[in-house]
Amino acid sequence: MERLVVTGGNPLRGAVDITGAKNAAVAILPAALMASKNVCVIDNVPDIEDISCMETIMKSIGAKVERKGNAFHVDSTELTTTEALIEEMRKMRGSYYLIGALLGRFKKVKVELPGGCHIGVRPIDQHIKGFEALGAKVDIKHGIAEVTADRLIGANIYLDVVSVGATINVMLAAALAEGETTLENAAKEPHVVDVANFLNSMGAKIKGAGTDVIKILGVKELSGCDYSVIPDQIEAGTFMIAAAACGGEVTLNNVIPKHLESITAKLIEMGVEVEENDDSVTVRTNGNLKGVNVKTLPYPGFPTDVQQPMTTLLSVAKGRSVVHESIWESRFKFIDELKKMGANIKVEGRVAIVDGVERLTGATVVANDLRAGAAMIIAGLMAEGETIVTDIGHIDRGYPNIENKFNKLGGNIRRISVGE
Ligand code: EPU
Repeated sequence: MERLVVTGGNPLRGAVDITGAKNAAVAILPAALMASKNVCVIDNVPDIEDISCMETIMKSIGAKVERKGNAFHVDSTELTTTEALIEEMRKMRGSYYLIGALLGRFKKVKVELPGGCHIGVRPIDQHIKGFEALGAKVDIKHGIAEVTADRLIGANIYLDVVSVGATINVMLAAALAEGETTLENAAKEPHVVDVANFLNSMGAKIKGAGTDVIKILGVKELSGCDYSVIPDQIEAGTFMIAAAACGGEVTLNNVIPKHLESITAKLIEMGVEVEENDDSVTVRTNGNLKGVNVKTLPYPGFPTDVQQPMTTLLSVAKGRSVVHESIWESRFKFIDELKKMGANIKVEGRVAIVDGVERLTGATVVANDLRAGAAMIIAGLMAEGETIVTDIGHIDRGYPNIENKFNKLGGNIRRISVGE
């Protein structure tokens, strides 16, 4: 059991390299299981716990996975089983992409249902709707999903809710179905586009990813390819907000500024200076921030995964801010922790009313989930005194080397083992 001890008050200055996108990589690695010939070399994979979990799962079904720095070499030509019934499946969300990938390639799969952050009810009805529309039979009992098909045949599928997971999962299965699938009301997130680009590099025929209509013409087989995962929009957003929270000037390298537009726009509205270059952004502030209203929405709207860091920043902005969380109903639990540090926030259902205070002060707080953990670190970095963040396993699932990255910018974060 480890904790982070954050000593607040330092401005952040310097440059930070943003790593590959977690939510793209956790889909691209299982997508590599669809290659029946040649090796996939996938570069820019983040070194996080969710990826280690995925590596274990892939090896458990016979994939040969080798890490060379940030590159994963995946040989899936001879898998030994289509069943993944190990504990790691339950430790992360993206493990459900094994369903689409193995169903597409082998027309059968049996897996443990996924876990992930406790941020609200996380149904998979839209994934199931998509698989069934392609002709699969879905049987879910005692936390295990068995999905089988004699043949997968392309279909027109309209998703009832905009879902990243369902869009990617159905796209995976449809890539190896017979005929054309049209996926309407699809998610447009950068990681959806990245997975489509990866599949196309493997020989798939997918058009329209990044719009709300994706057309997938099924092919007979997919083959290994070389690919590099896009930069992480959420890690970048987290560092932009931290820079604004602590004052100073931080340049984020290896980003796609277009993916950050909704975050950039809100920071500028608050009075933060954001300068965009080809593949970097620089954030600077003198600490005079004003409150703004934020509503989380599917891409290109403001990302729910950056809501908790943003609400934390707003807790010290001048005046009143209203934050509306429209994606996950339980993503305000971290506010009780922020209140321990002096924040003045009222939560009414899916809305948080934030009245800015002069400053936060250190306390012992819990990282309730992954992005709540990032929010607690930001709160600690800008607070007066010492903040101890517990349950940091959640943070390690999604942020590589987070304390080292902040410390290089002038932050003061120590990792300790309980009992130290
Ligand atoms: N939904 C349904 N039915 C479904 C699927 C989703 O009703 O079959 C609902 C959900 O309840 C939610 C909304 O649709 O209200 C959006 O869910 P989505 O399927 O898009 O979420 P997800 O695929 O489970 C991914 C990310 C999350 C991120 C969301 C939204 C991964 C592994 N996870 O989850 O990331 O919040 O998209 O952008 O890609 C995180 O990284 O911290 C994280 C939680």
